[in-house]
Amino acid sequence: MSVREEILNIFENGRGEFFSGGELAERLGVSRNAVWKAVRQLESEGYHFDAVSGKGYSLRQESDVLSEQGIIRYLGQSAEKLDIRVYKTVTSTNTLLKEMAANGAAEGTVIVAAEQTAGKGRMNRKFHSPGGTGLYLSLLLRPKMKAQEALFITTAAAVAVARTVEEVSGKSAGIKWVNDVFINGRKICGILTEASFDMESGELEYAICGIGVNICPPDGGFPDEIREIAGAVFDAPPAGDVKNRIAAGIIEKLMNDYANLSARSFFDEYVKRSVILGEDITVLGRGEPRRAKALSIDRSCNLVVRYEDGTEETLGSGEVSIRKAEKNEKNA
Ligand code: BTN
Repeated sequence: MSVREEILNIFENGRGEFFSGGELAERLGVSRNAVWKAVRQLESEGYHFDAVSGKGYSLRQESDVLSEQGIIRYLGQSAEKLDIRVYKTVTSTNTLLKEMAANGAAEGTVIVAAEQTAGKGRMNRKFHSPGGTGLYLSLLLRPKMKAQEALFITTAAAVAVARTVEEVSGKSAGIKWVNDVFINGRKICGILTEASFDMESGELEYAICGIGVNICPPDGGFPDEIREIAGAVFDAPPAGDVKNRIAAGIIEKLMNDYANLSARSFFDEYVKRSVILGEDITVLGRGEPRRAKALSIDRSCNLVVRYEDGTEETLGSGEVSIRKAEKNEKNA
């Protein structure tokens, strides 16, 4: 571990406490100058310290910078089975983790980034991933299951996100089938699970669960194409260590549900949090958009709908997407 990492570890585990330069230098077996340089470097990365003569430095509670140490602080024991790597900028956490998975990375490898330059969404869409205002993470899983069951990873992740953002923000979070988390009618999170499977056995080789959360609106607002739908957990940059806490909460809850995925203990909550059941929706992605009513979600997490002609259909997530119907939208 570098001096910077060791120092960050100490400060993250004792947020608000003062540590003198001399004490840190002695603990780490380095010079006071090396400690000073590490603190300066952390400041340049966005950490805020109080410096009081005779007492030393203290990491302010409101520093909101993603780091391995910051996430691990909230995970406690469950961090032992994980390999968390935090980056400032990547192309896409899913793309990076896919390369690592193909090279044998272990289950529990997690890539977290503060910015993505080529964030990917479902249906080959882009996922807007600006720096500083979002949280983008991907988790590598190697479950023994059939490829179609990978959907349960996505639904478990949606529940993990909804619970976590609710805990941290106090705002209630809903889920729009299959993988979008909403607060106050706006999408604050998207989830993209990508899987590789063995053609002969049909078993999964690995699944990468990628989660993007808008923590607060980006400077200048969301781009025009998503302005009507996108929202964020907070209306303005939150004061406090929010990103590490949200990352840790999502990872921990998802790993807990994943440990017993076949029991689908998250299922009832997934249904309860649905923002579309009983609503008029438009089914997209297979020819002409069609108006329907969202009736129920079955145990396989498929959506059962009734079209305006009275026919019913069970929709799998891979094939379609849906949106809430506008009141004056014409049936197509
Ligand atoms: C969607 O809403 O269509 C899914 C968006 C998924 C975005 C996340 S951000 C972390 C991970 N890396 C990616 O490139 N995409 C996923």
